[in-house]
This record gives sequence, structure tokens and C-alpha cells, in this order.
Amino acid sequence: MKILVTGGAGFMGSNMIHYLLKTYPDVEVVNFDDLTYAGNLLNVSDIEHDPRYTFVKGNIADAKAVEKVVQGVDLIINYAAETHVDRSILEPEAFIDTNIHGVFHLLEVVRKFNIPRMVQISTDEVFGAVMEGESDEDSKFEPRSPYSASKAAADHLCHSYAVTYGVPVIVTHSVNFYGPYQFPEKLIPLFTMNLLEGKTVPVYGDGMQIREWIFTEDHCRAIDAIAQNGNPGEVYNIGTGFRVPNLEITRKLIEMTGRDDSAIEYVKDRAGHDRRYALNSNKLRTELGWVPQVTFDEGIAQTVEWYKSHKEWIDRCRDGSYKDYYKQQYVDR
Ligand code: TYD
Repeated sequence: MKILVTGGAGFMGSNMIHYLLKTYPDVEVVNFDDLTYAGNLLNVSDIEHDPRYTFVKGNIADAKAVEKVVQGVDLIINYAAETHVDRSILEPEAFIDTNIHGVFHLLEVVRKFNIPRMVQISTDEVFGAVMEGESDEDSKFEPRSPYSASKAAADHLCHSYAVTYGVPVIVTHSVNFYGPYQFPEKLIPLFTMNLLEGKTVPVYGDGMQIREWIFTEDHCRAIDAIAQNGNPGEVYNIGTGFRVPNLEITRKLIEMTGRDDSAIEYVKDRAGHDRRYALNSNKLRTELGWVPQVTFDEGIAQTVEWYKSHKEWIDRCRDGSYKDYYKQQYVDR
């Protein structure tokens, strides 16, 4: 089986590539990534000489490059996306290009070359702030940031391609991820690194915004189950039910890094900040038999340990020198 993982140098994509190579001895994986700021080839440097793995630099919004890379592929898993809400507030254009235009090109090649399956990774944020209860797969989309609006638009496109052309695309909505290799702009890696370095952590507003969290390995297992046994044209929510305010995560990280509450710096709230997300993931559990296997305590312990033991990775993220790796390994050779 040949699998195209787009955005495979990012946090979620690189975790999926590791999972696939570890789980399936005969798999062939192509990593198609444009190495924008969040693409870091250090995330996959340990498997770059694996004969089952190939890296191709390219952007999903480049139709020609996409056409070339999908030849002979059995499955596309699309992780290529702009994902950071704060960036989408400051500079929304890249979100429209990659998250909407890029998905359009992927859907077009799936249609044109009869690719057997595509999984589109989307987010719980398309449902907007859910003050009580849970969003299920049929809940109304109410995106409130340029990021979530771009993901919602792509989800609608996927639905339209499934209905109109019978394109075998499956959309997944995931809760917040955490784990190794996450770029230090998101809550958990940013706070972990700051705390380890003796700095303060910027808590937005009152810190009582609620997010639901999943460890990356559990997410990989969910995507695997969905890619193999999910129904084309359908949507699956991926969640754990573990929902906590940001301040609780912050205090947990403070405790794990031996700091105290003086590390907390309350800063101005994010514009349009969604107060709460909560997904109902019963469909995935009952239809495909998936259940999360890693508790938050286990997952966060592994994550903090990973950041503690990957100082060079952190330093190269901080000073931007992770960008040089592509040139050193692929261009100058
Ligand atoms: P983030 O990791 O950016 O994910 P998302 O916005 O997609 O949920 O943020 C998680 C939560 O943490 C969110 O409520 C915003 C908050 N947050 C902070 O309080 N401070 C920060 O520096 C960051 C990055 C996030």
C-alpha cells in the first residue's frame, strides 16, 4: 500500500508517518510537504533512510506538483494545513490558500486519477464555541476565526465532491492534539519550553477556556481505523472526552517542571476566543471500535519528557536553524 501523507514534516503528519512505518512493514509512505515555517524535517530525520519512505517538497495548492506526486497512491491523508488560530488572525491569506485551495486540488486529483481514498484532517473548531453539550457529526458549522472558517470551507468542499462526483473522501474532526514534535507556538509545547527555560507563560484572558485533548498516538490509531474501515463520504469526530480549562493544563505543566504559579502571566485575550469545544465521538467508538488508549496523565508525562530530552530540536526551532536541514540533506548533497 502506498500512502501519501501531505504535511508530513509537521507535528501531526510526522507522528502519522512514524506510526505507519512502525505498524506496517510493507507500507510505502510519501511525505509531501512545502516546508513552510511549521514543516520541520528534523521531525522525520530518524526515518529518512528507510527505503519505504520518500520525501517530496511541494505545496498542495500547486496543482501540477500534486498531480505528479499522487501517481500510484492508494490513500491520501491530508495533514497539510495552516493551523494556528493566532496567525490566522494576523495573516489570514495563507489559510485560504492552503486550507481551501490546497484541498480543492487534492479533491481534483482524487477525482481525476480515481485515487481509492482520501482522509481530510479537520477540527472541532468548525463548530465554533460550544458553551454546553457536545458537537456531533451533524452539528451546525459556526466557525469564528479565519482558521476555522477555512477548515469549514474545505469540509464543505469535501462533502460536495463526495455527493457530486462520488469522490471517496472522509472528513475527520479532531480535538486538540498534543505530543512530541509539536511546533512551539501551541499551548502545550510553548508553555513546556518556556517553563523548562525558566520563563513565564502567557495565559490568555482568565485561562478558563475549555479544550478537549488527545495524545497524538491515539489520533494516529483513529485515522488508521477510519482510513481502513470508515465509510467514504462520511464524517467522524475524534475525541477523548477529556476536557479541561487551559489554567488546569498550565498548572499541571508548572508542577511537572518544578515551577510555581509566579510563572503565570495573564495576558490580553485572543480576539474572538472560543470559550469551549466538546466533541461527541460515539460514532467512531461504536462503528469502528476505536477507543483512546493513553490517559492525559500518561500522555503529558511522555510529552514533557520528550521536550526535556530534545534540547537540540527545541534550540533549532527557537533560532530557526531547523530550516537549514532541508538544504543540507536534500539540496547540497
Ligand atoms: P492553541 O494551542 O493555540 O490551540 P487552539 O486555539 O487551536 O485551541 O490554544 C489552546 C488554548 O490555549 C486556547 O484556548 C488558547 C490558549 N492559549 C493561551 O492561553 N496562551 C497561549 O500562548 C496559547 C498559544 C494558547
